Amino acid sequence: MSDTVLAPVRAVLALPNDDPRKTLAVALALCLACSVVVSATAVGLRPLQARNAALELKREVVKVAGLDDPGVPLSQAFGHIETRLLDLETGTLVDGDAASTFAYRDAARDPGQSKALEDDPAGIRRRPNRMPVYLVRDGGALETIVLPVYGQGLWSTMHGLLALAPDGRTAKGLTFYEQRETAGLGSEVASPRWLRQWAGKTLIGPAGEPVIEVVKGSVQPGAPDAGRKVDGLSGATLTSNGVERLMEFWLGAQGYGPFLARLDGLSR
Ligand SMILES: Cc1cc2nc3c(=O)[nH]c(=O)nc-3n(C[C@H](O)[C@H](O)[C@H](O)COP(=O)(O)O)c2cc1C
Repeated sequence: MSDTVLAPVRAVLALPNDDPRKTLAVALALCLACSVVVSATAVGLRPLQARNAALELKREVVKVAGLDDPGVPLSQAFGHIETRLLDLETGTLVDGDAASTFAYRDAARDPGQSKALEDDPAGIRRRPNRMPVYLVRDGGALETIVLPVYGQGLWSTMHGLLALAPDGRTAKGLTFYEQRETAGLGSEVASPRWLRQWAGKTLIGPAGEPVIEVVKGSVQPGAPDAGRKVDGLSGATLTSNGVERLMEFWLGAQGYGPFLARLDGLSR
């Protein structure tokens, strides 16, 4: 190291230990060293975090598709699922193998891969032009469709997966695998007890319009429209409203509506 760098260091080290300038210099050097270590660790761990997030997403897709089995490795269970990229504007599946690595959150931030929303019930501001979708087939016939959905809760963007029957209108399951709502209140949005009630609910009406409602309180059993309503989260109406609005968006014309309307013709 050159003398121009070392000279000030030597000068500081030569100061008596109780000199405030030496205390300050040592504290600054320590801060610098720690920040380098923290930054290097954060950067170094990023690929590992991305790999873990991808694995976690696969686990959630398998679970919401009803394919999880403790005796079957995740890679094998996920192997039964076809990951495809969907062009939301046209509602058609895009050919190519980019689907498995497609990051819709990055796409939503990129003006070249997303569109700004004027009508934005989900509170997401921009919608990616393409989204990954997951198809489960039994033989050639479609059995389950898993669609990523996300939208604003009270405190956070809630990311989830909606499993649909092949009719494209009936829910088979729902999960929220990422949210930061208040523990014990809004975070109940991710509780199996609350999510369980979604299976069998009618999400889309005869004219292709989203009809699912998250009501305040409980759904009246036996009411004629009980099939398109779910109980709200108690003490968390704002989070519940967020779920209803993200459903309205993603099942509507700007979301998966065009795709779901032409499901009948979906073949390999
Ligand atoms: C500390 C704190 C945290 C809260 N967290 C949430 C939340 O995560 N989700 C939510 O909808 N409401 C939350 N609320 C309550 C809302 O402010 C609001 O009162 C509530 O959504 C109304 O729901 P209710 O009509 O079912 O009581 C929180 C309130 C407080 C004081």
